[in-house]
Amino acid sequence: MKRYRLRIPGPVEIESETLSEMGAPLRAHYGPEWVELYNETLELSKRVWRTERGTAFLMPGPGSVGLEAAIASLSGEERKFLILTNGFFGDRWVRMAQSYGVPLAILEGEWGRALDPDAVEQALKRDRAIRVVVMVHGETSTGVLNPLREIGSICKRFEAITVVDTVATLGGTEIAFDDWGLGIGVSATQKCLGCPPGLAPIAISPEAWALIERGRIPGWYINLRTWKEFAREWGSWHPHPVTMPTGLVSALRRTMKGILDEGLQKCIARHSEVAHALRQALLQLGLEPFVADEGEAMNTVTAIRGHPQLAASAIVRALKEEHQILVSGGLERLAGQIVRIGHMGPTATHEAMLPVVLALEKILQRAGVAVNLSRGANSAAAARRSL
Ligand SMILES: Cc1ncc(COP(=O)(O)O)c(C=O)c1O
Repeated sequence: MKRYRLRIPGPVEIESETLSEMGAPLRAHYGPEWVELYNETLELSKRVWRTERGTAFLMPGPGSVGLEAAIASLSGEERKFLILTNGFFGDRWVRMAQSYGVPLAILEGEWGRALDPDAVEQALKRDRAIRVVVMVHGETSTGVLNPLREIGSICKRFEAITVVDTVATLGGTEIAFDDWGLGIGVSATQKCLGCPPGLAPIAISPEAWALIERGRIPGWYINLRTWKEFAREWGSWHPHPVTMPTGLVSALRRTMKGILDEGLQKCIARHSEVAHALRQALLQLGLEPFVADEGEAMNTVTAIRGHPQLAASAIVRALKEEHQILVSGGLERLAGQIVRIGHMGPTATHEAMLPVVLALEKILQRAGVAVNLSRGANSAAAARRSL
């Protein structure tokens, strides 16, 4: 199989030392040595979530398993959900909640614009029955960062539990689980956490537990009560209900240590600097960002529209075929209209982004666009120096 440089919005290229953790001799998923490694990884994840009050788990599966666990576990007692959506992944959580038959209100925002906290406040004022609010932090389908801190604090005032998809942001964008009053946070290993896919880190506040424990739901694996029960009853031997991908947990321990050793704030600043420099370079090439307001743009994914002389899908294809660089196109209503570039974890570096800019310059020039070669690259370098 041909090798490509992964600049898609996850999974990202990972460091060889992380891969080596996965290649180490297999270990057992129970017993005191394993429990020590597992608990250490959970503690590291709590520091990345910035929670002391919350409970952390690592659920084997993709990010969606964690989201489904949150929605399923809160779905007892006919309590009402509000789902906020301004993109493909927000829409997915609508479908997921609908499949559980929960009473549901939906607040739709424009694709490419951040959610409006005032609209959330109005919705909660209008309908006092809403107990759970579900939202996406970084909407990978458009490159929009939603105002989680503001929405989290509004939900807290209305005593609603905020469930948030941080699949594309945990470890790369600021999140303060306790301080922002979040209820359940869900992420995935294959993005800013710099690992292969396969685990969904999850954090749960005491308030969310109170709501979960007041309801009764069927199901076992994605029922968070099962996870709590195993942590309590089997804590010293097998503190999770299923066989764990031990190599992946060990890889995650390594990458989370790396993030904390770099310094969480420094790591987040690195993502922001790279995103800013990339945006400046793309603007120089005449490539318009899909998220018009940089203040609403993710620092882990950048989406651009196609060029007037070269369609978005042609850009994605040329990067792949001529430069062995994989980026993504648009999803659903944005199919064929945008290009999405991931700069997450190990690829949130100028060294990883510069080849993308240089390749785009060449592709545009070949399509007859008047670009000064190196203009985008120089601009990226200048943006880097000016920070
Ligand atoms: C914001 C967001 N949420 C959820 C998902 C789904 O993650 P997974 O495929 O790990 O379930 C993705 C995947 O790209 C994502 O970007």
